[in-house]
Amino acid sequence: MSSAPVRLSAASLRTTEQPINYFIQQALENPRLISLAAGLVDPLSLPADELAEATAHVLGRSDRARAALQYGTTHGYPPLRDKLLAHVAALDGVTPADLSLMADDVVLTTGSQQLLYLVSELLFDPGDIIITEAPSYFVYQSALNTFGVQTRTVPMDEDGMDTAALAALLARMERDGELSRLKLIYVCDYFQNPTGRTLSLPRRRHLLELAERYSKHQRIFILEDAAYRELRYDGVDVPSVKSLDRDNRHVLLAMTFSKPCAPGLKTGYGVLPRELIAPLLHLKGNHDFGSCNLTQHVLDRLLETGAYARHVEQLRHVYREKRDELLTALDAEFGLARQVGVRWTHPEGGLYVWLMFPPEMRTGPDSPLMRAALREGVLYVPGRFCYVGGNVPDHEARLSFGVVPREQIREAVRRLARAGHESSLRRCKASAPC
Ligand SMILES: Cc1ncc(COP(=O)(O)O)c(C=O)c1O
Repeated sequence: MSSAPVRLSAASLRTTEQPINYFIQQALENPRLISLAAGLVDPLSLPADELAEATAHVLGRSDRARAALQYGTTHGYPPLRDKLLAHVAALDGVTPADLSLMADDVVLTTGSQQLLYLVSELLFDPGDIIITEAPSYFVYQSALNTFGVQTRTVPMDEDGMDTAALAALLARMERDGELSRLKLIYVCDYFQNPTGRTLSLPRRRHLLELAERYSKHQRIFILEDAAYRELRYDGVDVPSVKSLDRDNRHVLLAMTFSKPCAPGLKTGYGVLPRELIAPLLHLKGNHDFGSCNLTQHVLDRLLETGAYARHVEQLRHVYREKRDELLTALDAEFGLARQVGVRWTHPEGGLYVWLMFPPEMRTGPDSPLMRAALREGVLYVPGRFCYVGGNVPDHEARLSFGVVPREQIREAVRRLARAGHESSLRRCKASAPC
């Protein structure tokens, strides 16, 4: 038996535990906890009947069943790629031809998470640079660490990434000779995870214009993560950045069935500039030479019958009510706290509300607020998990209304308000006079 040490790769050593494990652990240890932390979807709305019908259809005829149960292609099931291309173009009210797109520009992946990973594997060497929003989707940051990517961040406001700040950052990077290492700008531009904010149309145009203008050493791509796009509850839809990129040169659009349909399907898809397709498929071949073929056949059926579109429509009603319940509860429980600077976002879609306390009210896992929240039986995602680097803001929280039953939302916010009260009282006592 060898006692020689295990020597892991540099990439593995750069990859640490996902912060999300903390929440899973807390929820397991405390069953009476109401979790506003989990990014899961509403369990009662999952389309079980629709998927049962579609699966029965696929498996009900032996030739179709055999095709679906065989290996598929790395690229993805062609009829499904056709439908998805038509689907994303229809969301923008255009045709694929308007955007210089064809079905071969669509790739099926094992969730959009795999697409984010593959794109990173495709573009980055250690030391390369990505620009993200601050705050940003924290699970993606972990993949970026694996590839040794340096992250530069751009602040956000109600209109999403502040593209004036992005312009200033790009000018600075050019001056400092860093532009040749900048490969990608990542935006979650519809009802962002974690803030619920949407990038405004003028900023979408500005973002694309900046990517084009600064593509001096190599092409700077935009990774448009539109995971929540189809979950809009009110307001006016904005065109994707992809739809502004008429020659299909700069924008990689990442979409998923996880949020508008069912995460258990673990199926996502990307629409990419043509030059990236073959190299990305070579990498995907190494991972799995194709995502689950049966699932793709089932999804194809779901789109074909219109069951998918009907489901998304129903889902919008369910989440609109839950979102309203959460906003009403925040008004009721934190309304007065507005006077001391407590604020929150009012998302027009998606699954998240971003709660901002005054800077002295810390929200991190070791904060008095988190300890009080756990005592009260409620959980949120500490905002600081959504930032990179040292000295990050530690007074914000992501609240998700996805998985919590509607009847429990008010109670969850009541518990959070009590926790806030308790922890600020403690802080006052500790630093009296208050
Ligand atoms: C912004 C964003 N992108 C991508 C994903 C990945 O989802 P999936 O791999 O299930 O498509 C998530 C999941 O929560 C997300 O919030």
